[in-house]
Amino acid sequence: MRTQAILLVLALATPTLVFSSDAGATSRKCSSNNNRLDPASKKFMSDCSDQTFCSGPDVATSTCIPRECRRDEFPFGFSAGAPLPPLCPRGTFCPDEGSGCRPLVPPGRPCELNRDEQCAPPADWAQLASTQNFNGSICLHSVCRHANATLGERCVTDITTYLDVGPSGEQVDNTVTRDDCQSPKFYCDPSQLVCQETLAVKSACQTDQQCTSLNCAAGICIDPPATPAHVAQRQCALTAAAMVGAMIATCVGLTFLHRRNRLQHARELRDYYYQQTSLRRFIIELHEGAAGHYVNEKSL
Ligand SMILES: *[C@@H]1O[C@H](CO)[C@@H](O)[C@H](O)[C@H]1NC(C)=O
Ligand SMILES: *[C@@H]1O[C@H](CO)[C@@H](O)[C@H](O)[C@H]1NC(C)=O
Repeated sequence: MRTQAILLVLALATPTLVFSSDAGATSRKCSSNNNRLDPASKKFMSDCSDQTFCSGPDVATSTCIPRECRRDEFPFGFSAGAPLPPLCPRGTFCPDEGSGCRPLVPPGRPCELNRDEQCAPPADWAQLASTQNFNGSICLHSVCRHANATLGERCVTDITTYLDVGPSGEQVDNTVTRDDCQSPKFYCDPSQLVCQETLAVKSACQTDQQCTSLNCAAGICIDPPATPAHVAQRQCALTAAAMVGAMIATCVGLTFLHRRNRLQHARELRDYYYQQTSLRRFIIELHEGAAGHYVNEKSL
C-alpha cells in the first residue's frame, strides 16, 4: 500500500519536474549584454545554457530560447541523440551564441575570437590561404582582415593567452600569436609591426612565428613536430652498401670455414688409408717371412 502511494506521488511529480526544468531553461530572464568570453579560458559565456541563447538585451522582455544554429558538427552541451540545431549554409556562419546564420563579414567589420571563418574570403583567397588563416581571412583583435600584407608592409599582430587548469590543479597557459602577413612567407615583427621574411630551418630565432616551420626550439628554427625524418641519399647508399658488404663477408667467411673443414677431413682420410696400406704391407711381409721359414725347414 505504501509503495503504491510512493509510486503514485512519483508518477504525478515526474511530468511536473520535467515541465518546470524545461520552463526554467527557456523562460529564464537574461540579457544578451551579458554575453562574454571567460577571461581565462576565452570560452563563450552567457546567461543561458549551451542549448539556448538570449533573445535580446532588455532583461525585462528577454528570455533564453533554443539555439537556431550550431557551428560544429558535434556541438558542446547537447546530450547524445538530442535534436541539434542546423549547421549554416555556405556563405554564412553561426555566431558563438547560436542565434541564427548570418552572412560573412567583410574586412574591417567585427568578428568573434578565433572565428576566422566568419570573415568573407578575399578575391585571391587561393594564393593567401594557409594553415594560419581561413581561406585568406583572419580575425585579429575582433576585426576581420585579409592576411595579405607582404614584405615591409605594416601589419597587425594579436597575442592571446589561454589559461586553464591542468590535471593536477596546476595552471596551464597557451599563448597564440597571429598576424595578417602573408603566411608562411612572412611574419609580423612585433617591435616594428612590419612584415618580415620568415626564417628557414636551422636559422637562429626567438619566437615560433619567425620560423617558416612555426617551430623555434632552443633558439633555432626546427622542423615542426611530426615531420617525417628525412634521410639523405648518401646515408641510404652507405647503409645499403654496408648491408651488402656484411652479407658478402658472411658468405666468404662461411665458404672458407667449410673449405678448411673439408681439407682437414681429407687429410685425416689420407692418413687413415696410409695406415691401412702400411698395415697390409706389414702383414704380407709377415706371411712371406713365415712361408720362407717353413720352406727352409722342409728342405732341411
Ligand atoms: C574558400 O572560398 C572560396 C570562394 O568563396 C570557396 O569556393 C571555397 O570553398 C572556400 N574554401 C573553404 C575551405 O572554405
Ligand atoms: C589587403 O586586403 C585589404 C582588404 O581587402 C585591402 O584593402 C588591401 O588593399 C589589401 N592589400 C594588398 C597589399 O593587397
